[in-house]
Amino acid sequence: MTTRSLQKVIPSIPASDGAGVKLRRSLGASQLARHDPFLMLDEFYSDDPNDYLAGFPSHPHRGFETVTYMLDGHMQHQDNGGNTGDLGPGDVQWMTAARGVIHSEMPQQTEGRMRGFQLWLNLPAKEKMKPAAYRDIPAGTIPVQKVDQGVVKIIAGTFDGQAGAVHGGSTDPHYWDVHLEPGAVFEAGIPAGHNAFLYAYEGEAFVGEEKKALAHRAAGLLSDGDAVRIVAGGKGARVLLLAGKPIGEPVVQYGPFVMNTREEIEQAVADYQAGKFSHP
Ligand code: FE2
Repeated sequence: MTTRSLQKVIPSIPASDGAGVKLRRSLGASQLARHDPFLMLDEFYSDDPNDYLAGFPSHPHRGFETVTYMLDGHMQHQDNGGNTGDLGPGDVQWMTAARGVIHSEMPQQTEGRMRGFQLWLNLPAKEKMKPAAYRDIPAGTIPVQKVDQGVVKIIAGTFDGQAGAVHGGSTDPHYWDVHLEPGAVFEAGIPAGHNAFLYAYEGEAFVGEEKKALAHRAAGLLSDGDAVRIVAGGKGARVLLLAGKPIGEPVVQYGPFVMNTREEIEQAVADYQAGKFSHP
């Protein structure tokens, strides 16, 4: 068994997206700050409605998947395929934009806390132009497994033999939300060869045999190996673990379009302007 160690840290920086929603961006903060197949991780967390009320009005995507995980608050999704989804605490929305989706993501509250994550997961060239797909995953249907001094919510992939709400696919994504009590030691197998990173959104986490400290609200990229080890700090820790098979293809991104070549980006812009982002 080879335990992965903390290799590189991508701190989150304040950013603004949509019509002015304030968030923190770690992966995706620059073109270099990616971890194939993961393109971006945004955390939104505010008790001030001015930070989120404007929401994410109608906008397109092509070439990848967006995964939204709500912790607090209420957001409504609508897209040009006729899908409507209400996202509340603990709910996940898994949207495969593939050849094209136009959607909006708007807050359904005027006060209180809005908190959650949006992950962008790339698709390989052969799947970038497949039909779009959409899945709502209610909180109550996400498998939760008890571990010593903690629990793991298995949003995607498998954990300790238990399949998550989403599993398989060409990048075989693993998305766990790991909650640990103070001082808990968490050890788990993850497939060797998958690129993996951690994001500690509450408390402090110490990673690998070396127990390297992972800063709060930063993405910690892991070395290769077939196991991960996290020790929670004195106040416990809540950590996202993401792992996926690297795609190994060129990435050309222009805002919400992520393709392999510049020509494909130009095609995406032209198709969007020509109104060709319709569902099958
Ligand atoms: Fe979006």
